[in-house]
Amino acid sequence: MTMANGIKAAKEMVRTASWTKKDLLGLRELSVEEIRLILKTAESFREISLRPIKKVPALRGKTVINLFIEPSTRTRISFELAAQRLTADVINFSAEASSLKKGETLKDTARNLEALNADVIIIRHSATGAPHFLARFLAASVINAGDGAHEHPTQALLDVFTIREKKGRIEGLNVTILGDVLFSRVARSNIWALLKLGARVTLCGPATLVPRVFEQMGCRVTYDVDDAIRDADIINLLRIQHERQRKTAFPSIGEYAGLFGLSKARLARTKPDVLIMHPGPMNRGVEIESSVADGERAVILEQVTNGLAVRMAVLYLVNGGKGPQEFAAG
Ligand code: CP
Repeated sequence: MTMANGIKAAKEMVRTASWTKKDLLGLRELSVEEIRLILKTAESFREISLRPIKKVPALRGKTVINLFIEPSTRTRISFELAAQRLTADVINFSAEASSLKKGETLKDTARNLEALNADVIIIRHSATGAPHFLARFLAASVINAGDGAHEHPTQALLDVFTIREKKGRIEGLNVTILGDVLFSRVARSNIWALLKLGARVTLCGPATLVPRVFEQMGCRVTYDVDDAIRDADIINLLRIQHERQRKTAFPSIGEYAGLFGLSKARLARTKPDVLIMHPGPMNRGVEIESSVADGERAVILEQVTNGLAVRMAVLYLVNGGKGPQEFAAG
């Protein structure tokens, strides 16, 4: 098959693919066509945020509950705004002020939310598999907003959306993920998405945080930062996930910053058109120098902007939406 025919066939698959899943639990279980369908649907939603009245009635009458049992700034607010833009009713569950504090189980909590006729429950939890557990007994759609070190599917979707927007493609690109890979759900979801879409993925960081077992997924592993970043089209930086580490994986933050942090000097040894990405929250001066985070190659805030369109697309699809749509201006 020629490259032109391949692109035509992929476009045709997106046109004909439809969403059949009740939940979005991870990218490992999604097909290439399903990932492309979400990205295509997100494209059609992005324009809505540029309108004077940023709302469409796609989820009118639906109830979306943000069940965040771990802290979040970007994901929680982005899902809340996405649901509001689709005219859903949105409830933000506050774990600290909830009956979880009185010993109620996650299962009972979720069943009570469903008894209030929730259509979608978006869950972030420190335990791997918490969204999958809920999805097994809830009729409501469950969206994984990050479970332990396992997956963070909408983060990876907004990352590949941003890469595609900036580079025009994913296939054939060299993507380096630099930092604490072992404890990162962002890394795992990115690896699934990037490899499925045809990118080459290199992982780099301290050996204690980047085990060679990731090679079995199809990634290249190196502990030499200059080797990892030299040919990269994208460098995606990860913070140290202190909240998930039970013992110290490296001698000091200062040493980590010196050996693995992306400094201006290191950036000078990369391709001139490399994109710098970070899922946030950033630890400035550790994995990324401020001048790099705020520099012209960084697309970190554009990732956040694109997250809104991606989450609108996911909410729309799990609620029965059939794919890219055109909504009349509100
Ligand atoms: N990227 C990300 O998940 O950020 P939050 O923890 O702020 O949601």
